[in-house]
Amino acid sequence: MKIGIIGTGAIGSTIASKLSAAGHQVKVTNTRDMATLKEIAASLGAEAATIEEVVKEVDVILFSIPFKAYKDLPKNLLQHVPQEVIIMDTSNYYPFRDGDLAGLAGKTESEYISETLGRPVIKVFNNILEYTLKHKGKAAGEQGRIAISVAGDNEAHKKVAAQLVDALGFDTVDAGGLVESWRQEPGTPAYCTELNAAELKQALAAAERGNGPAARDAVMQKFQSLATFPSHEEMVAINRSVAAGNLQ
Ligand SMILES: NC(=O)c1ccc[n+]([C@@H]2O[C@H](COP(=O)([O-])OP(=O)(O)OC[C@H]3O[C@@H](n4cnc5c(N)ncnc54)[C@H](OP(=O)(O)O)[C@@H]3O)[C@@H](O)[C@H]2O)c1
Repeated sequence: MKIGIIGTGAIGSTIASKLSAAGHQVKVTNTRDMATLKEIAASLGAEAATIEEVVKEVDVILFSIPFKAYKDLPKNLLQHVPQEVIIMDTSNYYPFRDGDLAGLAGKTESEYISETLGRPVIKVFNNILEYTLKHKGKAAGEQGRIAISVAGDNEAHKKVAAQLVDALGFDTVDAGGLVESWRQEPGTPAYCTELNAAELKQALAAAERGNGPAARDAVMQKFQSLATFPSHEEMVAINRSVAAGNLQ
């Protein structure tokens, strides 16, 4: 497939290099000058593109940028992008990083992103840590394969998202429509807890609306209270601990 990726940070670059290695034709963009972007793109096996070029003549557009950055993207960026092009979004809202955002209250994070972009999105890759994505993929059917959830309102687009996730080494669980996507937002039992498909399904069902933000903030406080930045294993353990309601 032809895939345009906006953002070459921790998540965007990992997805770009893995999809490129899997045989997809990948273009990337970020905020750097073209010379720097070309170096980054080459290291990922991708082509460098401006933000206007990255959305052209592709099957999938994947946004992987900070939540607060969407409102500052070029207006009408997707105006001429055909409706069949699949728009995917990996983002999460963290108030300490993203600040207060007008229009977010009362919506799921992905509903806000959809409104901001003017297009429905598929929410995917938001509930997997960078380290997990990079290092813990497994072949389909292998014991202990980690799953991530996919939310969105277009079933055909969700299927393609699931195929890409599979190519990167993970199972997927259908998390329903965007209105239900709060179930995989930060602070929920499904958020970066490294579960298999059956466990993730249970975690999505067990989420309680409204509990995510306080749990998300408790996780951040716990991270900050540690003498050193938590290891990957510690992060997953803290996320699981919050999910179990027993953060100390
Ligand atoms: N890190 C994780 O473990 C993780 C896991 C799941 C989901 N997420 C979510 O996924 C999103 C990306 O996370 P990340 O950790 O990859 O972030 P990151 O490392 O901070 O990278 C962000 C990328 O977005 C680019 N960017 C920012 N504004 C842009 C704009 N206006 N136009 C084009 N590119 C722009 C940055 O460009 P420059 O390189 O030029 O600065 C950078 O490449 C976030 O919403 C995050 O919450 C993160």
